[in-house]
Amino acid sequence: AAGGAGHSRGGCAVTQITIAMAKGRLAEQTMELMEALGIDVSPLKEKSRKLVFESGDGRFRYIMVKPSDVPTYVDHGVADVGIVGKDTLMEENRPLYEMLDLGFGKCRICVCGYAEQEPLKKAHIRVATKYTGIAGQVFATRGSSIEIIKLNGSVELGPVIGLSDVILDIVESGATLRANGLSVIEEICTCSARLVVNRVSLKTKETAIRPFIDGMRREVERRKELGL
Ligand code: PRP
Repeated sequence: AAGGAGHSRGGCAVTQITIAMAKGRLAEQTMELMEALGIDVSPLKEKSRKLVFESGDGRFRYIMVKPSDVPTYVDHGVADVGIVGKDTLMEENRPLYEMLDLGFGKCRICVCGYAEQEPLKKAHIRVATKYTGIAGQVFATRGSSIEIIKLNGSVELGPVIGLSDVILDIVESGATLRANGLSVIEEICTCSARLVVNRVSLKTKETAIRPFIDGMRREVERRKELGL
């Protein structure tokens, strides 16, 4: 699919771009941004069990997948473009071109827990997280011995139920932390949605992908100027 694949509509060849989109918290704003560019995402909104969708004009093909799988599809070149959070890109660490900060889905990667217990001062720290790769890097150079416990969701349960001393997770509004009596102990970095491109696709489908990226960039900048 990364080989400049085209398909024919009304006699003229159209270079189709396959976009891998992250299900979940980024999906709605991703679709909204594409719509603002006049890209037809209506097939994605139909209630169905289908996994592959195509825009009405055939210019785009969409797959909607788990966030952590977006970099995998793009790295393998079966999707030319991906839209996914920086947190996921850091965790998956694939050799993709990160072309654009889309400016939505802003959150922070933080170490959280019961701050008053000073859990980071312990000699042995248990860290519950979805982001085992990032956690490994963050804690690698610290003096304490570290145990990383992989969870797939509801990570805040870790300290609450005594599975871990801290969590490393994304914090958006902070509501989940507050609701569970936890707080941010250390902020690692900020994150937002990013546009990534397969390295081969950028060359072989340049005439289709460049205008798409440029359109996205203009719209993102327009929104930034308007403070949206
Ligand atoms: C994320 C994250 C936190 C929460 C943070 O989980 O892991 O639990 O959102 O958001 P907040 O600061 O606005 O409360 P998500 O909702 O994606 O679901 P999950 O627990 O199944 O991973």
